[in-house]
Amino acid sequence: MAGTDERRAADRERMVARQLEARGVRDERVLAAMRRVPRHLFLPAGHEDEAYGDHPVPIGEGQTISQPFIVAEMTALALSATPPVRRALDVGTGSGYQAALLAEVGFDVVSIERLPSLAERARATLAAAGYGRVDVRVGDGTLGCPDAAPFCAIVVGAAAPEVPSALSEQLRIGGVLVLPVGTRSLQDMVVVRRTPHGLERETAGACVFVPLVGEQGWEK
Ligand SMILES: C[S@@+](CC[C@H](N)C(=O)[O-])C[C@H]1O[C@@H](n2cnc3c(N)ncnc32)[C@H](O)[C@@H]1O
Repeated sequence: MAGTDERRAADRERMVARQLEARGVRDERVLAAMRRVPRHLFLPAGHEDEAYGDHPVPIGEGQTISQPFIVAEMTALALSATPPVRRALDVGTGSGYQAALLAEVGFDVVSIERLPSLAERARATLAAAGYGRVDVRVGDGTLGCPDAAPFCAIVVGAAAPEVPSALSEQLRIGGVLVLPVGTRSLQDMVVVRRTPHGLERETAGACVFVPLVGEQGWEK
């Protein structure tokens, strides 16, 4: 088994060097977390060998685990919130990998998924990988988690037609919301910051995500 663990660790080293550092990811906290979190555990059984490729991978129910580079960028943006880093909301739990990374870099994580089967699997994976403290819930993440708000960071792993107001309202001052916004086929990564003077918005490049389905997202 030690051989397999060593091979997976080497896969992660390669992923970090070729997919992240080579593309300019510099935040050491993110690079260390990506070296540490065992991404292959978050893939469906039989697909573990696809875990460290430079692309998204299907996880069932028509959903995907995002490309490592995108997850690294979103984690770095979450860490750009004004310190101290405390609670984060992860919308679209999927496999649970993004939630694990947010926990690994120091957030207390609440993660919300609309599909119960994925939430259940993610809960089990997170516990097996040592991130059992992540609070995985089932519900419509376009409405956030009012009982756990406010958040330092909100990371949305699915694409919205517009920024859901419920999410920006659940940011604390200095907090950051990171989410893809656009059409069903192409989006911009949007970063919304709550400052003492109101909300500031910037964009951080084009991306393609599955739709965020809910009251403040897409209908289906
Ligand atoms: C690309 S996957 C997210 C990948 C995930 N971050 C990971 O690390 O595996 C998008 C997820 O968002 C979920 N989703 C879509 N709309 C949602 C909503 N309104 N609330 C919560 N989850 C939602 C989908 O069911 C899917 O699991």
